[in-house]
Amino acid sequence: MGVNRQARILIVDDQAYNLTVLQKMLAMKGYKDLELLSDSRQVIASYQAKRPNLILLDLNMPHLDGFQVLAQLQALKDPLLPPVVMITAQNSEDNQVRALSSGARDFITKPFKMDELIARVQNLLEVDASHQLLIQQNVVLEATVAERAQELLGTRRHLVSLMGQVVCQREPYKKGRSERVACLAKLIAAQLGWQMPECDRLYLAAQLYDVGMASVPEHILLSAEPLAEDARAQIRNHAVVGADWLAGDNSQMMQMAQEISLRHHEHWDGSGYPGGVRGDEIPQAARIVAVADVFEALISERPHRAALSKQEALDWIKAGSGSLFDPDVVTAFLAIKADGLAAC
Ligand SMILES: [Fe+2]
Repeated sequence: MGVNRQARILIVDDQAYNLTVLQKMLAMKGYKDLELLSDSRQVIASYQAKRPNLILLDLNMPHLDGFQVLAQLQALKDPLLPPVVMITAQNSEDNQVRALSSGARDFITKPFKMDELIARVQNLLEVDASHQLLIQQNVVLEATVAERAQELLGTRRHLVSLMGQVVCQREPYKKGRSERVACLAKLIAAQLGWQMPECDRLYLAAQLYDVGMASVPEHILLSAEPLAEDARAQIRNHAVVGADWLAGDNSQMMQMAQEISLRHHEHWDGSGYPGGVRGDEIPQAARIVAVADVFEALISERPHRAALSKQEALDWIKAGSGSLFDPDVVTAFLAIKADGLAAC
């Protein structure tokens, strides 16, 4: 990396003579963009306005000494903070060591030696240039990673929605059902105080809640006749089959989807299936989807019955509170405004 003579250097020293000497030495070597400060209290403002590539900082100054200024600079927690070179008197080894251990990158001693000054300045400007380059590369890299992550999230959302739709598609009257159930589930979760990232996760996971229904043969699924016990058992088995299909991925979303699939037909009082588990043993996400699923089914038309009105369906859900459904989930559901429900 070549020496950058365009670099901006801030020099802080209360002695005008020292400022002049340093300015002359640096100017002789082509460094023209020099900012001279005799009042150490102005360093922070000057740094923020001019963004120098290197700071030469005198140690012994009135008001704020070099260590105090260095501490102020470090308190900015600015990742672009350039190297600081402490200016110390000769024979002050203690201060030199202290300067280095306080975060100064180097020190120069008075009286100044031209060759030493220029060598140190050049070295540290190279350090600063490498540092700036690294930060720029990180910015580009982070933007690229964020873009890829966004792309993957988009694909994930699309695939989850597609999978839910494909399953619902087998039964003509269930078109769009998985997204409506997921939408209702998200509203309930928000009402229960879930944070938005968890609500969004539930919205995805809930769309897969009935994925196991794809294992049920069409002659059973579309049968207009009352079903025999073994056919009913095959339908009930969709909860376990779905959970098996969704297993094997340890992302939080897929684990939630697996729990929902397995437990969305469990009842609060333990009378549901497949496990007959009760109360808090049923994951909350599944308790939420259970309410959303039943409500959505009640307000939808089916081959063997007409759709209930929303009020009738709400009354039905309310009646199931504490037996079929978690009372807290029902309370949250009933608190959702009509226009919220209508949006799903
Ligand atoms: Fe189901």
